[in-house]
Amino acid sequence: MIKLICRKTEKEASLAAANVMADVVRNNPTAVIGLATGSSPINMYKELIRMCSAGEISFKNVKSVNLDEYVGLSPDHDQSYAYFMNENLFKHIDIDKANTNLPSGLAADPAAECKRYDDVIASMGGVDIQLLGIGNNGHIGFNEPDDHFSKTTILVDLTDSTIDANARFFASRDLVPTRAISMGIGQIMAAKKVLLVAFGKGKADILEKAVFGPVTPAVPASILQFFHGEVIICADEDALSVIREKHPDALC
Ligand code: F6R
Repeated sequence: MIKLICRKTEKEASLAAANVMADVVRNNPTAVIGLATGSSPINMYKELIRMCSAGEISFKNVKSVNLDEYVGLSPDHDQSYAYFMNENLFKHIDIDKANTNLPSGLAADPAAECKRYDDVIASMGGVDIQLLGIGNNGHIGFNEPDDHFSKTTILVDLTDSTIDANARFFASRDLVPTRAISMGIGQIMAAKKVLLVAFGKGKADILEKAVFGPVTPAVPASILQFFHGEVIICADEDALSVIREKHPDALC
């Protein structure tokens, strides 16, 4: 079941998303949380940091597993996802860094790294909540549009549209890595709960396709329509504008 939580602004929707994540951690202090990078989770992470500093939540016994990492970037590269997680969340909260996991972008053998990451995910015994953003092309993690859904961790060739979208973080487009390691769709679908955050007009069309369009690997996020449990989407008015226009009854 997909539940749409609509807030006027990105900030308000991010607070709602932080509360969903915080509830999972409060109810289960040893929860396994699946995390994402990119612009979308930043305000949500700020609120989780605030909650942790205020003593409203603790990540002391939480384990985390991230969706993806660029191939070729070291954890101290300022555009690596390891660096992002550290700067935007981990170093500000009481999580034990030893309990945080990302694929390694520097593995000499990326195929072996995918296998290692599968083992890491399996050893967690299940992800309690998986946070997702959504790419302009419908990707979740770095599962790009394809003719099938990936089951396990994969080495991905990023599409031109994803490289274009991510070029904003790099000094020039040719510095954007062209490959990434990503948790597979099957692993995302095995989480107990999914929390997706989406903001801005640029996400409005793809969000409508993901939630109401045909379920197809050409729009990877559309598989969430078949999720076994609750998918909570926290979005602002702009991201929900096409849904509001085409399916007004779906929104509060
Ligand atoms: C990031 C990730 C990606 C992003 C997506 C949206 O770990 O897996 O799927 O969530 O590209 O990115 P933003 O939030 O920057 O629009």
